[in-house]
Amino acid sequence: MPRTDTWWRDAVIYQVYPRSFADSDGDGMGDLPGITARLQHLKDLGIDAVWLSPFYPSPQRDAGYDVSDYRSIDPRFGDLGDADKLIAEAHSLGLKFIVDLVPNHTSGEHEWFQAALAAPPGSPERERYIFRDGKGPDGGEPPNSWQSVFGGGAWQRVPDGQWYLHLFDVSQPDLNWDNPQVRAEFADILRFWLDRGVDGFRVDVAHGLIKEKDLADWTHTSAILGGLEPAGPPPPMWDQDGVHEVYRQWRAVLDEYPGGRILVAEAWVQPAERLARYVRPDEMHQAFNFPYLDAPWTAEALRTVIDESLAANDAVGATTTWVLSNHDVVRHATRLGYPIGAARMHGIGADDPQPDTALGLRRARAATMQMLALPGSAYLYQGEELGLPEHTTMPDEYRQDPAWERSGHAERGRDGCRVPIPWEADAPSYGFGPTDASWLPQPATWAEYALDRQQGVPGSTWELYRAALAVRREHGLGGGELAWQDGPAGTLAFRNGDVLVLTNFGTEPAGLPAGARLLLSSEPLDDDGRVPTDVTAWALL
Ligand code: GLC
Repeated sequence: MPRTDTWWRDAVIYQVYPRSFADSDGDGMGDLPGITARLQHLKDLGIDAVWLSPFYPSPQRDAGYDVSDYRSIDPRFGDLGDADKLIAEAHSLGLKFIVDLVPNHTSGEHEWFQAALAAPPGSPERERYIFRDGKGPDGGEPPNSWQSVFGGGAWQRVPDGQWYLHLFDVSQPDLNWDNPQVRAEFADILRFWLDRGVDGFRVDVAHGLIKEKDLADWTHTSAILGGLEPAGPPPPMWDQDGVHEVYRQWRAVLDEYPGGRILVAEAWVQPAERLARYVRPDEMHQAFNFPYLDAPWTAEALRTVIDESLAANDAVGATTTWVLSNHDVVRHATRLGYPIGAARMHGIGADDPQPDTALGLRRARAATMQMLALPGSAYLYQGEELGLPEHTTMPDEYRQDPAWERSGHAERGRDGCRVPIPWEADAPSYGFGPTDASWLPQPATWAEYALDRQQGVPGSTWELYRAALAVRREHGLGGGELAWQDGPAGTLAFRNGDVLVLTNFGTEPAGLPAGARLLLSSEPLDDDGRVPTDVTAWALL
C-alpha cells in the first residue's frame, strides 16, 4: 500500500471545535473563514491532520451534534464555498482533513423528522425513526425504561400518542438503522463529502446505531459521556453486533476513493477486545481510546491500559490511538489537578472543589509527552497545546450543554472545555475574534495562556508541544514499537526505537540510565540531571 494510504497509522490529529477556534466576523461564534485564516498555526505546531467537529446546519441544541442537513454548512459557520476553501487550504499545507459525521440521530428540524411528525403512525416516514406505542392503558407510559445520556427518559410523546426514541436530547431523535432508506442516505452523504475531498470521518456515537430488536428494558443510567459502561453484556442500545455490518458497507464506499480515506469510531465500549472489533480490517481504521483518557495518574493503571490497548489492536492489525482531551470531557490540565483516582467530573462549577491548576498543568505536560511517545496515532484537542485549563468557575447562566438542564442541574456539563481559545493576550476576546464577543465567557486569567505569550518562550506549553511533535516525527515514534524498561521505583519507562521515555509518578527524583542523552522533558531536570516528580523525559539511548 502506498505510504499516502496509511498516513493515519501514526498521525497526530488535531480536533478543531468550530464554535471556539477563531471568529472572523466578530459575532462571538467561531467560523470556517476563521479556521482557514489560522491554519498556518496548526502547520507550525507540527500536526498531520485536522478533525473538525460538526459544521452542518443545525438548531445548535447540542452544539451542532443535532444536524438538520448533512450536505450543507450552518450559516453561523459559513457556506459550502468556505468549506471548500478550508479543505483546499489544509491540503495545500500538507494537512489531512476529517469531518464529523452524526449518524445515530438527526435534529428534530431535519426534513425527515418533520415529515415523520406530519405522517400517521405506521407510515414510511415514521419508519425512518424509532416510533412506538406507549405502555399502560392509554399508552401514557414510555415504551421502555431507557434513559437519555443527558439525563431524564429517552422517549418523547407526540400529539397522536406515539413515542419516539432519543438517546440524547429530545431534539435528537434516533434514526432507525434497520431501514434501508437510512442506510442508502448515509452512503450518499459519505460520497458527497468524499467527492469534496475530505480525508475521512469521525463517526459520532458509532456504537449506538443498532438497537436490540425487542427494545428490552434497561434500568441503568447510561454512562457514555460520564465514562465507560461497566464490563458485561452490552446494554440493548450500545455495541450491538449489527453495527459492524454498517461499517463494512461504509468501508467499501471509502475504498472506492484514492489516498487513504478513513473512518474513526467514537465508541464508548470496553473491554479493549470489544472496541477492537470496530477496527477489523474491513471496518473502520481507528477508534478513540477512552480507557486511556479515563486512566488515573498512576504507573500501574497506565501500564495496564497501554498494554491492553496495544494487544487488542495488534490482534486485528489496527493502529492504536491515544487521547487525553476532547469537547466532551474536562480538559486534562484540570482533570489531573484533582487527587489521583478522583471520580471523573461531568463539568465543574464555581461551588465545586477547584483543581490545583499548577499541579494539573505539570501533570498534563508529562501526560502529553508520554502519549506522544506511544506508537500509534494521537489526538489533540484545540487549546491543550496552550496548556489551557477548563473554565471551572463559569457562571451557570451561560451554560448551554443540554446535559445541564436535562440532569436537573446535577451535572454542570461540557461548556467548560468549549470556551473560545486565546490567541493574543492584549486583544479583545484574546484575539478569538475582532470584537470582545464570545459565545461562552472567557476567564479573566487567560491572557497568560494566549499563543502570543508562548511563541518563542522557552519552556512554554506551546513550545513543548512543538518540540515534542518534531522529535516524535524525527525519531518515528508513531510508527515504532514499545518495549517496557525497568526504571527507578515509582516510574514508568519504555523504549520506542532509540528513545527512552520515562515518567516519574513517585515522590523522589529518578535518575536516567548512564549515558542517556536528554532530548526533551516536560519540565527541567533537577541539578543532578534527575527526572523530578510528575515529569516525563525523552532521552536518546
Ligand atoms: C458524541 C459527541 C457529543 C454529542 C453526542 C451526541 O458523544 O461527541 O458531543 O453530544 O455524541 O451527538
